[in-house]
Amino acid sequence: MSSLFPNYARRPIHLVEGKGTIVTDSNGKSYLDFISGIAVNNLGHAHPTLTQALEQQSRKLWHVSNLFESPEQEALAATLMQDTHLSHMFFCNSGAEANEAAMKLARKYTGKHTIITFKQSFHGRTFGAMAATGQDKVKHGFGPLLPSFLTIPFNDPESLAEVEMDDVAAIMLEVIQGEGGVNEITPGFAKAIDDVCKEHGILLIVDEVQTGIGRTGTRFAYEKTVLKPDILTLAKGLGGGFPIGAMAGTSDLAAAFSPGTHGTTFGGNPLAVCVAQAVVQHIFNPLFLEEVKEKSAYLRKRLQQILPDSPFVIKGSGLLIGIECGVDVIPWIEELQEKGLLVVQAGETVIRLLPPLTVSRQEIDKATDILGSVLTEVPVVS
Ligand SMILES: Cc1ncc(COP(=O)(O)O)c(C=O)c1O
Repeated sequence: MSSLFPNYARRPIHLVEGKGTIVTDSNGKSYLDFISGIAVNNLGHAHPTLTQALEQQSRKLWHVSNLFESPEQEALAATLMQDTHLSHMFFCNSGAEANEAAMKLARKYTGKHTIITFKQSFHGRTFGAMAATGQDKVKHGFGPLLPSFLTIPFNDPESLAEVEMDDVAAIMLEVIQGEGGVNEITPGFAKAIDDVCKEHGILLIVDEVQTGIGRTGTRFAYEKTVLKPDILTLAKGLGGGFPIGAMAGTSDLAAAFSPGTHGTTFGGNPLAVCVAQAVVQHIFNPLFLEEVKEKSAYLRKRLQQILPDSPFVIKGSGLLIGIECGVDVIPWIEELQEKGLLVVQAGETVIRLLPPLTVSRQEIDKATDILGSVLTEVPVVS
């Protein structure tokens, strides 16, 4: 019997090693890793630049409190926010924590309470992030929930127009809802959000925990929209596998987080920050991002060649791709794993592909061959 809480539906394989896109289990079986720790290992496993950065820092200093100044955090903030309208940064340890910081900052700055979020969104498992999340299954049994969250349909300007905005501090959204089914914001809805925020002085929080750090082929997914977040949250890919989260904001907001208002012991830990600096410098290279876009186009083309139009619909952006299958995808995911391809679902009916951004075309070929053989042949029990 396991001595771990059974809160994860763990797959019965033990992964012990990884190199690039390939991971190996304790029986020596290899897999193409098209999960990447759910959009975490953006540079693949054991990337030499990251290994070296971590090794070097581990010989210098593991931890120092935020009681002391940190040129390393300053440098990472500068790398992340270069050529953006954002100017201040707070480092934490996870996506949920980044969103907690964002929501606290929005309330403190505006003095208002309501935060509008969207159906099928996912913002994390802490009380605030859970209340913000637009999925009942995530909240079930944990009530009473934090008040003053209003969850409305995504990509629906009419529902947005009906909201009474007087007490609204912020609107929080994912540009592509990752967990909720790889649902991309429409240009029309992005425009409606932008208009409402401007008209009512509402802050826009963009949660890029899953979509940020090159995952969609740009530094941040919001860059492909008209949206200009007042607050941006990051985690997952930021540390390439080393836990770190971050919240960025505009200069107007800085004074609201005065000394003592918010903090965390480990946030901006030197080990995390030095690895994140190496990750971000590597990924924010325009040539690297261009390649992500090219690989995305290649992967989509291969999927279109291999899968029939019906019932499959390919969606997403960059290397966050969803295959809408219209049925429960778990049996397929198990079969794909059996054949050496690791993928994860999004919602109930979508197979999500999140290869490392360093994935090769040959690896894309192999993965799509496996997908083609499984999705077109194995009957699904729904
Ligand atoms: C968009 C988004 N926000 C927040 C989170 C929560 O991040 P974490 O698990 O690091 O707390 C996730 C995790 O899947 C996410 O996808």
